[in-house]
Amino acid sequence: MSGRLDGRLVVLGITGSIAAYKAVELLRKLTAEGAEVQVLMTHSARAFVGPLTLETLSGRPVLSDALELMPDKRIAHIVASERAAAIVVAPATARWLGAMAAGLADDVITATCLAAGAPVVVAPAMDGDMYAHPATRANVARLRSYGYRFVEPGEGALASGQIGRGRLAELDRILDAVVDAATATESGPSPASRAGDLVGRTIVVSAGGTAEPIDPVRFIGNRSTGRMGAAIAEAALDRGARVVLVAGNVSTPLPEAATIVNATTTSSMREAVLGALDGADVLVMAAAVADFRPRRAADTKLLRDEALVLELEPTEDILAEAGRIARAMDAATRPVLVGFSAETGALNRAAAKAERKGVDLMVANDVLEPGAGFAVDTNRVTLVVPGADPEPWPLMSKREVGDRLLDRVVALLTARDARRASASSRVAAGTASDGRGGGAESGGKEIQP
Ligand code: CTP
Repeated sequence: MSGRLDGRLVVLGITGSIAAYKAVELLRKLTAEGAEVQVLMTHSARAFVGPLTLETLSGRPVLSDALELMPDKRIAHIVASERAAAIVVAPATARWLGAMAAGLADDVITATCLAAGAPVVVAPAMDGDMYAHPATRANVARLRSYGYRFVEPGEGALASGQIGRGRLAELDRILDAVVDAATATESGPSPASRAGDLVGRTIVVSAGGTAEPIDPVRFIGNRSTGRMGAAIAEAALDRGARVVLVAGNVSTPLPEAATIVNATTTSSMREAVLGALDGADVLVMAAAVADFRPRRAADTKLLRDEALVLELEPTEDILAEAGRIARAMDAATRPVLVGFSAETGALNRAAAKAERKGVDLMVANDVLEPGAGFAVDTNRVTLVVPGADPEPWPLMSKREVGDRLLDRVVALLTARDARRASASSRVAAGTASDGRGGGAESGGKEIQP
């Protein structure tokens, strides 16, 4: 059976957290996917799990010393960093995040990451209060701005006896992130070239389905889980954006670093999205929004005595409204709008929908196609840019769809910045010629001190 990491070297960095024992199972999962694994351990990690176990399972010596030499005298961690398809640090302690954010090469894992061009996946694990501390938050934000991908810890019982967010994420989520990172380098721009390209930008992403109440117990919903929106939010955070995630009805973990606004009905989602749009650079409407809702929701639970007839009314079209707002703005400042078009069958309605809603990019998919619909980690989409031929993309992970989509968003933002710069230089030239009497050409000289 072929594995998703066949023939690739993955460097697994283990730091000194109680969750270090879970890295043994992660190693097993990585090798089951066909990866060769080079384990690096900090000295404190060795107190939690024995290197012998990891050496036996990986078939390679564990490196713990940044100055360790190979028999041919090459520096072992530099060789590992040059060959690695991806580096995964799991678990990553608060200390390690701080050391890496500061670029302190005082352990073998930071030294390797500094030397490597490979993508880095980080799965933190620590006490909940430590993870929430502003110092840790700042370190995470800094590492994201380097293009490091985070697999956020989950909530639950911690070693301290507390309940909080700090448990190492599910190993399958970490594994998927490693597969994504290791294979993305082969199919698109490198993570290094994407690193930090959304710093200073605010991106609003909607995710999940809406739930329109019928009565206090029941609602009209849909099969959306929020995975596509969460993957886009993760990708944007990893590239340094500030992300507002407007969450409908979701059944997937949401990235902790996003500002999460819960909005499960179309009207509350409209309010949240349009409110967040003010001052935002990008809106991505990945949510599956209801087209109809019950005209009236019953105040008490409906009983089953009688046949039920629901009267439905159309909902507001949030994206179309955002499109109207954006079109009324100056082209140099208007937000980039991205829509999703879930179809069942042919995708040719998507182009008309893109025009009608006034979006810059429309991501269309056929939800009936295997691997492309709800509750799966992959998607096969066609990108529709108004006025251009549709671009079918191959089947890829939702995270990779997110990153490729953001590549296009970044290009649109760069074009918008160029328009803004040329508009302001025209204004400056105009001011110089009006007010200072020197004419546009000599204006530059005239205003020099
Ligand atoms: N959308 C929205 N508000 C709605 C319905 C949809 O903002 N009330 C957004 C979705 O988030 C998505 C895009 O519009 O980004 C397209 O959604 P889709 O359901 O495919 O299109 P509809 O406008 O509902 O058209 P149709 O149902 O005819 O396919």
